[in-house]
Amino acid sequence: MVKLTFLGHACWLIESEQGKIIIDPFLTGNPLAAAKPEDISVDAILVTHGHGDHLGDAIEISKRCNALIVAPFELVNFCGSKGANAHPMHIGGSREFPFGWVKLVPASHGSAYVGDDGSVVYTGNPCGFLLKTGGKLIYHAGDTGLIADMELIGRLYDVDVALLPIGDNFTMGPDDAVVAVEMIKPRVVIPMHYNTWDLIAQDPVKFCEMVKARTSSECVVVKPGESYEL
Ligand code: NI
Ligand code: MN
Repeated sequence: MVKLTFLGHACWLIESEQGKIIIDPFLTGNPLAAAKPEDISVDAILVTHGHGDHLGDAIEISKRCNALIVAPFELVNFCGSKGANAHPMHIGGSREFPFGWVKLVPASHGSAYVGDDGSVVYTGNPCGFLLKTGGKLIYHAGDTGLIADMELIGRLYDVDVALLPIGDNFTMGPDDAVVAVEMIKPRVVIPMHYNTWDLIAQDPVKFCEMVKARTSSECVVVKPGESYEL
């Protein structure tokens, strides 16, 4: 059994018999956070890009429980410079870890660490993750617009669960995300990256109705703090 717990925004805790993984652990400062960073105990931390609402508490969690950060090369260098334990990868590359198999896939977005003083440290390209753990394949799209590469994911992989942003403004909105579902053909799609702030307010139920009308994928709304098991 694989359990996905939504901790708000784009943060997911994924538990399988292979290990515990957190993706994009933005908890401090996240108005929808369903956990505190100090309560997180994981084997690995996957980070899609350097923006604060994704890198979040990754470095602190990594240092506290010696969890391995897996991220694009430039972002790993940044995390390493802050004392985190981190493994570099890049788009198209995959690797088998004790906690599961990870492949970095393209995301069309930006990636930088922006300091409190407005200073910008570029952290390479953003990514999405394919994660196979406990025999289930999960696709976390990160922050991205609709990209034709998603067609390839649908053609090459049998995705059990796709976690897709629907917030619009910074990422795909609901209309483009439905097209993404048509291309990825996941068994289940769960929307994320909406309603954290007014700027990305969306109705996930309406999104699921569009998915149901136009695709054969199941669409599930998981609220912050709730879990989905497969
Ligand atoms: Ni972003
Ligand atoms: Mn974001």
